[in-house]
Amino acid sequence: MSAHPLHVAVIVASTREGRFGPTVAAWFAGEAGGRTDLDVEVVDLAEPSTVTKKLAAADVFVVVTPEYNHSYPAPLKAVIDNHFREWLAKPVGFVSYGGLSGGLRAVEHLRPVFAELHAVTVRDTVSFHGSRACFGPDGRPLDPAVSGAAARVLLDRLTWWGLTLRDAHRARPYVTA
Ligand SMILES: Cc1cc2nc3c(=O)[nH]c(=O)nc-3n(C[C@H](O)[C@H](O)[C@H](O)COP(=O)(O)O)c2cc1C
Repeated sequence: MSAHPLHVAVIVASTREGRFGPTVAAWFAGEAGGRTDLDVEVVDLAEPSTVTKKLAAADVFVVVTPEYNHSYPAPLKAVIDNHFREWLAKPVGFVSYGGLSGGLRAVEHLRPVFAELHAVTVRDTVSFHGSRACFGPDGRPLDPAVSGAAARVLLDRLTWWGLTLRDAHRARPYVTA
């Protein structure tokens, strides 16, 4: 374990009854948690009382989002809009899932929203098309090599941005006005 691991918040964006989101988030949190340079916390939007504190503590965010009607879930928008400093000049990555689109339209809608909050979104994503069929009964992807490789790229880039922006925050306050 690194002496100063980056603190990663893995956000479960779906809150509906019977949701698949926790399965995807648990897998990704496991991938991130296996690295010595990261420590990982799951932020479940279905448990709103814990959200603000967990977002504030994070150096890096990963939003695990489904696609609903070509966009992302309303509870996620509410949490984004109800916070400001928590997102400021921090990196955000996306793990998306859904039907045919794999949640990619949700991700593309989220990028300009996070830009407005001075957050930096990472180009690379992990996406699951026809998501429930992509996972086995053990809650793990059926194609662990492909999914694991995508997760590794996302985490490598997030770590680069996370370390860079954490150092920058410590060196000087971010200018917002
Ligand atoms: C209200 C609703 C709208 C959806 N709209 C889309 C859509 O536009 N495109 C898509 O690919 N999948 C769509 N889906 C499928 C979901 O992305 C998929 O079922 C996903 O697993 C839902 O995530 P959740 O179970 O964590 O809530 C929709 C599902 C719901 C419930």
